[in-house]
Amino acid sequence: MKKIKKISDFNFNSKKVLVRLDLNVPIKNKKILDETRIISSIPTLKEIIRKKGVPVIISHFGRPNGKKNNLFSLKKICASLSKHLKKKIIFCNNCIGIEVKRTLDDVKIGEVVLLENLRFHSGETNNNKNFAKELSKYCDIYINDAFSASHRKHASIDNISKLLPSGIGKNMEKEIFNLNKFLKNPKKPLTAIVGGAKMQNKISLINNLIKRCKYLILGGGVANTFLKSNKFNIGKSIYEKKQLKNAIKIQKKAKENNCFIVLPEDFTILEKGRSKNISIIKLNNLKNHQILDLGSLSTWVISEIINNSKTIVWSGPLGYFEKKPYDRATNKLCSFINSKKNLISIAGGGDTIAAINKNKKINNFSFLSTGGGAFLHWLENYTLPGIEVLKK
Ligand code: 3PG
Repeated sequence: MKKIKKISDFNFNSKKVLVRLDLNVPIKNKKILDETRIISSIPTLKEIIRKKGVPVIISHFGRPNGKKNNLFSLKKICASLSKHLKKKIIFCNNCIGIEVKRTLDDVKIGEVVLLENLRFHSGETNNNKNFAKELSKYCDIYINDAFSASHRKHASIDNISKLLPSGIGKNMEKEIFNLNKFLKNPKKPLTAIVGGAKMQNKISLINNLIKRCKYLILGGGVANTFLKSNKFNIGKSIYEKKQLKNAIKIQKKAKENNCFIVLPEDFTILEKGRSKNISIIKLNNLKNHQILDLGSLSTWVISEIINNSKTIVWSGPLGYFEKKPYDRATNKLCSFINSKKNLISIAGGGDTIAAINKNKKINNFSFLSTGGGAFLHWLENYTLPGIEVLKK
């Protein structure tokens, strides 16, 4: 097994450096809602420029299914990237072919190029060798700085690294360092908080967490599915019918592993005409209601558990945090974790980070991962396919 090369191991002088970033940021009405991933990519770009290389940025954006679609163009990221890098970005309308050749033939040291969305070609998601070859054609070095996309065995993550001298960027280095440091041998007791709407993509993660955690706190739609599996009436609340059996199995396994699964006991519900005044209801009193957030008792129980933990790992909001007042439990959790000076706190996932970043005073987390699916995937195996391929 090879040691993974870092930015500091390369001579970039006069080299065109293909840099895989994850510029897949949330956008609404042409406005970028969270720039974390763009900001995290700046140190790598700056370092390549400082060492007289030319960054040629590649990324995916959304899921355009292998077809060109302007709705998914990376052009809309140029302004933000340029603002944070303090440099003009040369945008190329394709990521392979003659347009790329022309752009890169003319490019000078000190300039930065951004190529169009990789996923306009099906070869990207199929990990196609020829597509990877096309991508690599006009560049000298490949740097993967897209931790949050490295759970995907796609051409720009996997096959490309077999064609060029390859290594990782500074953001990737930071992610691997911090996740290893805090979570490989965590300070115990370890508590995990898993929320969000769906548990479908979190099953192996939860199965892994129950072997390592003293407490597993559940919120959001995930908690609803567990409550439903225990035959509670959850009214009109969202849950996953297909996961009910899994929820039962997980609870049995958790008991065998001495892990306590903590389910909510009260909720903030939707009541017509009362969207501003919060209605809180106990689990046993739920009738035809729709759960939108946890209630104050459940939030208090969570804070007590946190008080008795040394490490917290958190992924997924506790309620429908995009809409006030159903962001209360998630915001309270943010502030509470933030107030604990000696607690090791790691959070990841697009929604979780967006919720944390909404509050500028939240700055005491030990580490915030840029990964969504990648963060969950890392927690399952303590590595990612995009990291492993660089060791081969
Ligand atoms: C993410 O947002 O988690 C990454 O950009 C990966 O996106 P994907 O789930 O569309 O592969």
